[in-house]
Amino acid sequence: MFKIGNVEVSELKEKYGTPLYIYDENIIKQNINDYKEGFVSKNYNTQIIYASKAFSSLYMYKLVREENIGVDVVSGGELYGVIKEKVDPKNIFFHGNNKGEAEMDMALSYKVKNIIIDNLDELKIWAKKCERIDYDLNLMLRINVGVSAHTHEYIVTAHPDSKFGYYIENDDILESIELIEASKNMKFKGFHFHVGSQIFDMTGFTIAIEKLFGLIKKINRKISYLNLGGGCGVKYTEDDKPLSLIDFSKIIIEKVDSELEKANIKIDKLFIEPGRSLVANAGYQLYTINQMKKALNKTYYFIDGGMNDNIRPALYGALYSVDIANKMDAKKDMEVSIAGKCCESGDVLFKDVKLPKADKDDLLIVYTTGAYGYSMASNYNRLPRPAVVFVDGNNSKLVIKRETYEDLYKNDLD
Ligand SMILES: Cc1ncc(COP(=O)(O)O)c(C=O)c1O
Repeated sequence: MFKIGNVEVSELKEKYGTPLYIYDENIIKQNINDYKEGFVSKNYNTQIIYASKAFSSLYMYKLVREENIGVDVVSGGELYGVIKEKVDPKNIFFHGNNKGEAEMDMALSYKVKNIIIDNLDELKIWAKKCERIDYDLNLMLRINVGVSAHTHEYIVTAHPDSKFGYYIENDDILESIELIEASKNMKFKGFHFHVGSQIFDMTGFTIAIEKLFGLIKKINRKISYLNLGGGCGVKYTEDDKPLSLIDFSKIIIEKVDSELEKANIKIDKLFIEPGRSLVANAGYQLYTINQMKKALNKTYYFIDGGMNDNIRPALYGALYSVDIANKMDAKKDMEVSIAGKCCESGDVLFKDVKLPKADKDDLLIVYTTGAYGYSMASNYNRLPRPAVVFVDGNNSKLVIKRETYEDLYKNDLD
């Protein structure tokens, strides 16, 4: 039987039911430690910021607080969670294109310290609001460096016409810096970029760093902070060959150090913002196989979840590795597709995978589901979102309850 930590997944099924999201807490901590080890320079301070869109929960925010790393939030909902978990406002980095005014007011009322500005229009709203605050806001401008990180089209966020950030060649960058400089409570700290996700080859990333330094030279201002986003790839299938977190970090540090030396400037602090690579390989999904069916050319195993709890295969063709958790040593002599229960023909989560012959009530384990799984889940077909469990060695604890049918209708009025 497959184990997470020291706990057999059959025990987790018995205790919490399926479908189920399960995290190995020690893998998350190891990932954080790897980043802490690799992402250091003798030339400036460094900080890891967890991009919490990958997976947010109060328990995860508590872990982040205890590990004393930063946290990136992009919405009032994520902000509400970090405030509830009493994350230090100095460690909160408020991102997002198209921030709402209510979200901005919420950030200011909690004295969130770091704002990443997406565009000039947004900045003008902050400028107005900042006239009435009693603390300084650290601002970084998000720059679209116009470099693609050579990953899947839907998860590249920095090609020239991306919706995110200031395009590097536009004049509104300088106009924004001047607006910040004219304000009392807004401090221009530097720049941010995020060149894409699931990056295996650092070529695009290092070109992006060079381009950013071109901009730094052009604007001729003191730069205190640089934030180079997230993007480190993870292993979903045998074809994925990710860098270690330490190597990924070191390549960035070396490139920044060399660009700083070339430009003969100093910065105070360098940030990176990993999401996926902090949590993906710590996460698993566990399903029960309900039925098997033979179509004309395909055999299907039907599971008790679907695209509502993992939209990534349907959204952008994401691939995963799977096993039958109670038949780990059995021969994988079947080629099957695993389909969910949603009323969409696209609700085939894992296509043409090799697995042993299944029996009813076998357990399907899916690896590397810790990022953008629960956080992208929906209630399509009024399916309740599964529970989330964290495992720490021999112990498991429920960190998000399974939704009930009652929950699903709690906002409906009759
Ligand atoms: C601004 C920003 N930072 C960090 C991340 C995290 O990226 P990843 O999960 O690939 O590390 C994202 C993801 O989209 C992002 O948009």
